[in-house]
Amino acid sequence: MSRTPTSALRAWKHLGRLATARVGATAEVCPLTIDVAGLHIDFGKQRLDPEVLDALVALSGEVELGSARDDLFNGEPVNFTENRAALHTALRASVEERPVAVRDEIFKAQTHQRDLVTALRSGTWLGYTGKPVRTLVHVGIGGSHLGPALVVEALDATHAPIDCRFLANVDAHATSRLLDGLDPATTLFVIASKSFTTTETLVNATTLRGWFLERALDTSAIARHFMAITANLPAAATFGIPAHNVLPMWDWVGGRYSLWSCVGFPIAVSIGNEGFAALLAGARQMDQHFRTAKDSENAPLLLALAGIWNGNFLGAQSHALLCYDQRLAGLVTYLQQLEMESNGKTVRRDGTRSDVHTAPILWGGEETNGQHAFHQLLHQGSRAFSADFIACIEPGHERAAQPRLDQHHRWLLANCLGQSEALLGGSDSGSAHQQSKGARSSTTILLDRLNATTLGALIALYEHKVFCQGMIWGINPFDQWGVELGKQLGSTIHAELGGGLSKKHDSATRLLMDRIRRGGSTEQ
Ligand code: F6P
Repeated sequence: MSRTPTSALRAWKHLGRLATARVGATAEVCPLTIDVAGLHIDFGKQRLDPEVLDALVALSGEVELGSARDDLFNGEPVNFTENRAALHTALRASVEERPVAVRDEIFKAQTHQRDLVTALRSGTWLGYTGKPVRTLVHVGIGGSHLGPALVVEALDATHAPIDCRFLANVDAHATSRLLDGLDPATTLFVIASKSFTTTETLVNATTLRGWFLERALDTSAIARHFMAITANLPAAATFGIPAHNVLPMWDWVGGRYSLWSCVGFPIAVSIGNEGFAALLAGARQMDQHFRTAKDSENAPLLLALAGIWNGNFLGAQSHALLCYDQRLAGLVTYLQQLEMESNGKTVRRDGTRSDVHTAPILWGGEETNGQHAFHQLLHQGSRAFSADFIACIEPGHERAAQPRLDQHHRWLLANCLGQSEALLGGSDSGSAHQQSKGARSSTTILLDRLNATTLGALIALYEHKVFCQGMIWGINPFDQWGVELGKQLGSTIHAELGGGLSKKHDSATRLLMDRIRRGGSTEQ
């Protein structure tokens, strides 16, 4: 679990003793709040008393988290299985703060991006018929999709001059739904793939290019209607995208940390260059806080430590993200990738297997809808979990213009607080069927209001939480080797379903392949 096994092990065992001593104890509220970058983070409903907190902070000291953090910001190869830096923070740093090695590249890429955004938003980017481009279709998956989709949806630039749409899944139902009614003459397709080898993205991109050419009837029109965001320049060129339409990615930015790079192009197109700058500025405020705040007042560190306490010592088996703001609906899937692709692994830096749990399964929903679906289990189920409640103090709608909507927002906030209070305190009134035992830990994050700055800070908060946890568990949060096997098998089976020679599969897979080859039954 650490870089210094013996002392960290001692700290870990001490925490185990503290947890045992608290079994069955009533959950008490220990006030602990942090205000940073327009976020109010309340740990009061965590079961973190001062003794536990001290022990958790001591654990982070034993694993030398401070020096790991410096390595992260300084561009050291913290992604040690791939010998790469993870410099997403440099993308939102000031020029002077950036490691010299990446300064010029970032400056060039950001300038190029801004110029393209300006051309699109001002209507000077013309399609093959001479009409201005009005729709942007962003094609990408995972880290090349979830961040931009989250931010564009959350900041809902209803009056944006360009309509941004997203295509991720290889499912043709998604592709044909997207194409329905699309005007090729006024659409720009942006192919976002760091590797430019991801099957889903390339299959979609190829279909879209075919669809486009059937209508434009001129391959030279590709230059006005296709862009790429990638680290694989030759592959983008082979696909037919001219160099001036390619925005770069780099191996020192991980896919799930890439919304700050040119992968965030649709965000900038949707909310403008100033809006994108505000998003970066919010994240930078969180970076500065993470680098300079005392451990006991450091929001990302405390969020990470609360997760370690809940998951490793209090038995939480999963972590729920409960968003009391419809605009943040995309946050659950975004954080699923960030947390589970980053820390869903068990082999430590030294090659040994972790003997403690690492990332919990993260799940969640849009509230208050979830209250009428899965909250029953949260209150009375047998499985332990922890939760983050997220809400905005000020609504996005204009109060004066629509006073009735004020009621909605007050209901939303009241439910947010009511649920976390019920989960912590429980109830012993009524029959056994009506009681709930409480003692469910949660953190509440209140944004003053949802805008580019606070959203940037919120995302960076979680990025750093994930980093801290990875360091404490001694794993590498920046690789994702585990996804490869399934991809390889998927490619083999794809060829076999298309008539290729069958290789060895387990019997269940073989039977399923046979069934699919025979086609759907005509009986239903
Ligand atoms: O399959 C996992 C993954 O590699 C993610 O880490 C990544 O965000 C996603 O696929 C997309 O990758 P790319 O940007 O190279 O298409």
